[in-house]
Formats: sequence, C-alpha cells, structure tokens
Amino acid sequence: MNFGVLIACLIWNGNLVLSNKQEIIEDLKNIIYKIKKSGDDFRPGPASIPAFTVILSKDLTPLSNQIIKFDSVKTNVGGHYSTSTGVFTPPRDGLYMISATMRSNAGQHLHCELWVNDAMKEKLFGTNYSTGTTNAVLKLRRGDRVFIKKDYRSGEYILGRGWSMFSGYFIA
Ligand SMILES: *[C@@H]1O[C@H](CO)[C@@H](O)[C@H](O)[C@H]1NC(C)=O
Repeated sequence: MNFGVLIACLIWNGNLVLSNKQEIIEDLKNIIYKIKKSGDDFRPGPASIPAFTVILSKDLTPLSNQIIKFDSVKTNVGGHYSTSTGVFTPPRDGLYMISATMRSNAGQHLHCELWVNDAMKEKLFGTNYSTGTTNAVLKLRRGDRVFIKKDYRSGEYILGRGWSMFSGYFIA
C-alpha cells in the first residue's frame, strides 16, 4: 500500500471514528516511523508497537493483594508500563498478549494473579523453587489497568534477581 492510499484510509477512518483519536495518533506515529525508515509498504515498526518486559531485580515478600512492582525495565515501547505503580496501561484498544512468570522460594508456595481493572483473569502457582506462569490473549481497552497482584495469602516469597518477569505486547 502506498502512503497516499494509507493516509486517505486514515482520514476516512478519522471521519468515521471520531471517538478514537488516540488510535489515529498511534497510526500516524506508525506512518512517521515508516517514513523515517523510507520503505514502500507500510508495517508498524518496533519503535511504535506498545510492548514491555520488566523483571524483579530483588526478592520480594509482598503483602496480601499487593500489586507487584517489577522494577527493572528491559523493554517499554511507548512507556505504557509504570515501574512506580506496576501497572500496564494500553494506549489503544485491541488484542494484547500478556504473560508473567514468577519463581517461588525453597519449600514454599507462591500464588499470584493477573488482573485487568477490577477483574481477576488468571492465576499462577509455584512451589519450592519452581516457576508459575500466566499467559493470556486479552481484548483490552485504552486506559485499562493490567497488573500482577499477590493473591489473598501473605508471607509468600518471590525470587527476583531475574527469575520473575512480566511482559505484554499489542497484537492487532
Ligand atoms: C525442594 O526442592 C529441593 C531441590 O530439588 C529438594 O531437595 C527438596 O526435597 C524439595 N523440598 C520439598 C519440600 O519438596
């Protein structure tokens, strides 16, 4: 698709979908990125797809129901994951892949949960140094709050130092 056609499509969409300015801005960012790369066919580039991977740098014993703040950023395209809150906030509606893996301590259980806003989506469990994993393809809305939370149990230990991580990316 050439740029003229693509921009015409976006203006067409812009007129039709006035409510979703943010998505149009994201699409325009994709175009600008592509123009910078100066190719012919449009594909969203790695500089513009919302995506994050964050890890726990230190071991943690969270309180019950505490949001886990993964503190060490490996990838955070667009800055939509916040290390100060532990929350990923999608910048646009769409399908997202969200996952987390967390490692338990010697002889102990570890229970955590993946939440979107006020809804628990999935649970993960690890025991005695094993990892627990959660994976979800989720239809998210712009502004949703996505995070990993300790469940109601307190006193469980999470191994950090690169053993526990939280990731997500925009699919389409
Ligand atoms: C935990 O794992 C270690 C290492 O594999 C093993 O020696 C130990 O028996 C396990 N402990 C329990 C409580 O299962």
